[in-house]
Amino acid sequence: MTTLWGGRFEQAASPLLRQFNDSLPFDQRLWLEDIFGSMAYASAGAAAGLLTAAERDALLAGLEQVAEEWRAGQFPFAPGDEDIHTAVERRLGELIGPLAGKLHTGRSRNDQVATDLRWWLRSRVDELDSLLVDLLRVTVQRAAAEIDVLMPGYTHVQPAQPIRWSHWLLSHAWAWQRDRQRLADLRTRLNLSPLGAGALAGNPFAVDRHALAADLGFDGPIPNSIDAVRDRDYAVEFLSWAALLGVHLSQLAEDLILWSSREFGFVQIADQFSTGSSLMPQKRNPDSLELLRGKAGRLTGNLVSLLTTLKGLPAAYNKDLQEDKEPLFDSVNTLLVALPVAAGVLATMRIRPERMAAALGDELLATDLADTLVRRGVPFRQSHELAGLAVKRSEALGVALRELPLAEYQAISPQFGPDVAGVFDFEQSVEQRAVYGGTAHAAVLRQIEELRALLPSN
Ligand code: ARG
Repeated sequence: MTTLWGGRFEQAASPLLRQFNDSLPFDQRLWLEDIFGSMAYASAGAAAGLLTAAERDALLAGLEQVAEEWRAGQFPFAPGDEDIHTAVERRLGELIGPLAGKLHTGRSRNDQVATDLRWWLRSRVDELDSLLVDLLRVTVQRAAAEIDVLMPGYTHVQPAQPIRWSHWLLSHAWAWQRDRQRLADLRTRLNLSPLGAGALAGNPFAVDRHALAADLGFDGPIPNSIDAVRDRDYAVEFLSWAALLGVHLSQLAEDLILWSSREFGFVQIADQFSTGSSLMPQKRNPDSLELLRGKAGRLTGNLVSLLTTLKGLPAAYNKDLQEDKEPLFDSVNTLLVALPVAAGVLATMRIRPERMAAALGDELLATDLADTLVRRGVPFRQSHELAGLAVKRSEALGVALRELPLAEYQAISPQFGPDVAGVFDFEQSVEQRAVYGGTAHAAVLRQIEELRALLPSN
């Protein structure tokens, strides 16, 4: 068994250390970035005069063959393969002989792994953005189709004021749109190349780091080689992004879980996204949503995990950094499924406008009632108090606000007039909120237009 670093050792590493140290079980998913990064490095080596054109071509052909084996799922592992970098280099040697040993000249696994991981994450970032776009499209499309549906709006989970159902839907869409912005923003700091930083001090063979960066689709090289091999800020930013998106999805899930309960019955989650109980035949559980809510826990945990690993890390590369991968992979894996599930639930659930309408009680119009007095010049603090007294009175008499006789209103305050009767119209209440960002028809339509304009035009 050979290692990349055996020269100065007399004894082989303990099997226990190897088990502890090996990252191949999880970092093999970087195979493509590792091999194509090596191809770029071979070309840069030839350009710098380190390799002849023939050597470069032989390296490229060998690497292509290794890639072919991975692609076909036929890469032959060997017992000494410590990580993806070791495995690829070992295999290249078996295929093309000692020339493989020239590939690593001036390069360290420290700049190699940092390059692989950034590149890999960049592709996932693009994938996740397009999943967010799918989720947004489903949401915006529903909001447009169901704009006429009214429901109680809640604060503190207490009925507050009537809103359009679409207004609630879009409230989540705007959070996801911010998630897209954050993702695009972190991508700019992610998309820089560590390659050519060497172990920590820089490459001694004058490889062109700018050309290498451009070759790998990076915006440029990282300006400091020590920073290049240590920096995992981009991974922290990504995990923080993922945790926040997880929180957003959990908030969506919580609303829908509540509203899909029999007591609310505002929505029905489609069979495809519900499960039954092994014991209670009547059950229809929103497991898809409960998992969306639950995944926020692991997404947050992954962020804390990496931050804790990085805290107090000494200069440059330390093996602690190998711990960057699993939280990152886990958060990516989680969201690659969670986002389509969220989109699927939203696309397939049924809404029950009649249940929403039935939940619209007159007390949701108490603010509007106070506003009638405001329009007569009564200061809002006072009109708030008077409308509150009307609510109390209607509760005492056991009638809805609209059934409270005008005489009762006027006993509370002579300022209440016959226009009180006009308050009890939910549509009108909603339409009064025509301010930018409000729940009136035109204001909701405007949100839909603005969101549509922010989505890629396919
Ligand atoms: N498997 C290692 C990692 O994931 C690669 C870098 C190893 N570098 C080193 N100096 N041992 O971080």
